[in-house]
Amino acid sequence: MTIRTATVADAAVLAELARRTFYDTFASTNDPTDMALFLAESYGVDQQTLELNNRDITTLLAEEDGEAIAFAQIRAGHVPDCVSGAEPIELWRFYVAHQWHGRGIAQSLMDRVKTEARLRGAKTLWLGVWERNDRARAFYVKCGFTDAGEHIFLFGTDPQTDLVMVAPL
Ligand SMILES: CC(C)(COP(=O)(O)OP(=O)(O)OC[C@H]1O[C@@H](n2cnc3c(N)ncnc32)[C@H](O)[C@@H]1OP(=O)(O)O)[C@@H](O)C(=O)NCCC(=O)NCCS
Repeated sequence: MTIRTATVADAAVLAELARRTFYDTFASTNDPTDMALFLAESYGVDQQTLELNNRDITTLLAEEDGEAIAFAQIRAGHVPDCVSGAEPIELWRFYVAHQWHGRGIAQSLMDRVKTEARLRGAKTLWLGVWERNDRARAFYVKCGFTDAGEHIFLFGTDPQTDLVMVAPL
């Protein structure tokens, strides 16, 4: 498995991986209309092209035999009030393809996320995770994150509660 920084040439691959992993994670527990709305807004090729061209965002892509199997995005510039640590940066998205869960990919990707965040000068990594996403919460606790508060995440038309977690870098 290799991890590299994605470029705009990866927009279509990233859009497909992001749509698939998001759908696999949340389709069974959410309204299909909200899911369709969110996927259309967030994970089209044009939107991914914009994000890959945005210097405030770093996208990391994990590949196995040339196949994209996981991605993570770090985003500067958004900090909720409940995050008080020094020099914060957001771990915006973190997704591993379903068949690779529990195989150490996520831990390697998290290690790389922390390295990239430090290279950007960050000292605190923060994220929002859906309050009902028990597996992700357990994983983040293993990676040193602790609860800091909560904020609202608009999923389609559904305002959901995300727990905000932080880890020192
Ligand atoms: C979140 C994610 C990246 C973690 O990667 P992973 O390879 O599954 O992580 P791990 O298996 O190392 O750790 C998950 C932990 O949760 C535990 N777990 C599994 N199912 C669980 C559940 N329903 N409730 C609580 N804990 C659970 C596992 O046992 C494991 O802990 P352990 O190592 O102490 O046994 C991956 O599951 C994923 O991509 N999920 C879908 C996308 C997602 O939710 N992303 C986060 C958005 S904020």
